[in-house]
Parts: sequence; structure tokens; C-alpha cells
Amino acid sequence: MESLFLLNFILYMAGVQKALLESVGAKDPLFPRRLSGKTLVLEIDGLRKTFTNNGLKVEVLKDLKCSIYSGEIVGVVGASGVGKTTFLHMLGTLDCPTGGKIFHFGEDVFSWNDTKLSKFRNKELGFVFQFHHLLPEFSALENVMMPCFVAGESRPKAREMAKDILAEIGLEKRFDHRVGQLSGGEQQRVALARAMVRKPRLLLADEPTGNLDERTGEKAAELIFTLNRRYGTTVVVVTHNLALASSMDRCIGLAEGRAVELNASELKGFGVGRIS
Ligand SMILES: Nc1ncnc2c1ncn2[C@@H]1O[C@H](COP(=O)(O)OP(=O)(O)OP(=O)(O)O)[C@@H](O)[C@H]1O
Ligand SMILES: [Mg+2]
Repeated sequence: MESLFLLNFILYMAGVQKALLESVGAKDPLFPRRLSGKTLVLEIDGLRKTFTNNGLKVEVLKDLKCSIYSGEIVGVVGASGVGKTTFLHMLGTLDCPTGGKIFHFGEDVFSWNDTKLSKFRNKELGFVFQFHHLLPEFSALENVMMPCFVAGESRPKAREMAKDILAEIGLEKRFDHRVGQLSGGEQQRVALARAMVRKPRLLLADEPTGNLDERTGEKAAELIFTLNRRYGTTVVVVTHNLALASSMDRCIGLAEGRAVELNASELKGFGVGRIS
């Protein structure tokens, strides 16, 4: 009898605790996600970035907070010059914050030395630059093989990996073309393949459909979604493309150096759809 009472009491307290957590969750939008067992991939708190040029300070990001969870595909939107590329570069550890913290998979990676940070970047992160930054003296295939070489893969294995991903994005007839012999859209797709070839845990893409016509852009977006679904890759995509932004799990808007969660009806107010 006494043990039955004890069991009921424990169940009651568990119920009270759950209700309490849910009521806290209603105030803090992040809380229910933690409750549903999602893992934090990026935790960004009080992020600041200030550039100084000729003594002139440009405060781009000010006290930016947001969290991104495992397996999510998240859009980052905002007017031109608001700081989307700056933000993505810091998520990709390509630039350091002026203040605040970014935790990657729970780790303060900016406290690591360069060697450890480079290894982490090569293994876990894929980056698609706004202006692709392919190596012009190499072919499409060689550009995509590059991250595999850095990771110590053999040449045949790197070739196989690079061929597979290029074929998946419709570039099987362009393996040996040098960068200058590819169209702008093809170059962007090669950049996407290079970022994806090692199946990173986190893919960061800066306007990956920006230079592509509608159909090719859709194919590139499809590949990103496939990677997300097949390998559980967490993806952060900067875009001005309304169709792409609308198909994300959620969108974060940047304005005045801060981040806000957006719903579909708010996207147009954040510069989405003006440029495809
Ligand atoms: N290295 C730098 N030195 C000084 N200012 C910079 C530097 N890099 C970026 N900025 C400034 O920071 C601001 C944000 O730039 P950023 O490239 O992040 O914008 P964006 O939101 O990606 O814009 P777009 O949509 O046009 O690509 C701009 O005003 C830019 O001039
Ligand atoms: Mg940009």
C-alpha cells in the first residue's frame, strides 16, 4: 500500500515537472526542442562582429543569439549588407567573432589551435561560398577531390568520391573542364559538390542558388535536401530565394545585427524574393 502511494507520488511529481517544463518552454522557444531530445549543433550567444577600416568602425553583428539543432535545415535571410555572409563565415570558423560565443557540437572551437581547428573544419564542415572560390588552375574533378586529399584519402578513393557527387549534381560530362571553361552556374555546382564530398555533419551554404537559373537552382537545392535527409546533415543556407527559404524547416532573419525567428509571411519583409 505504502509502495503504491510512493509510485503514485513519483508519477504525480513527474507530471508536475513535465507541466512546469512545458510552461517554461512556452516562454522560451528553444526549450521544447531540447525536451524532444534534439541535439544542439550550434549555440550562438551574444555574438558580435565589428570591422574597423581606416579607423572607421562598422558594427555588423550585435548581441546575436540563436540555436541550430541536429538534422535541421535552416534559412538565414536579410537585406543585402546586413551581415549574412559575415555570420556564416563565423559559423564556418573562417573568421573570429569580436565578442560572444559560438559553440559547435558543444565545443568552444575558437579556443582550439589552428591545426585542431583545420582538422575539425575539414571533417565536420562543408562551406559553399557566395563567390565559389574554386581553384582556377585545376579541373572540376580535382577541385572536388581537394578536401579528400586534405583528409588523407588515396587518389583513387578521392576520384571515386568526387565523381559520384559531381554525377549526382549533373556534371558527369564536365569532370576535366578547368574552372574557366565552366559556366557560372556549373562553377557554383562544383563548389556545392566540393562542400558535400566528405558528407559533412554541418553544411553552410551562402546563396547556393544565387547564380543559377530556376531549374538548375532547384536541382542544387534538391541535392542539399537529399544530403540533409540521407545523412542527417545539418544545413544553414543564406538565401534571397523565396521558394528555397519557404522550403526550409525554419528561417532566421537578420536585422540590425540581431537574429529573429520568422514565419513564412514575414520572409518578404526580410529581402527574400527580390532577387531569385
Ligand atoms: N572585411 C571587411 N571589412 C570591413 N567591412 C566589411 C568587411 N566584410 C564585410 N564588411 C561589411 O559588413 C557588412 C555586412 O557584409 P556581408 O557581406 O556580411 O553582408 P551580406 O548580408 O552577406 O550581404 P549580401 O546579401 O549583399 O551578400 C557590409 O556593410 C560590409 O561592407
Ligand atoms: Mg553575402
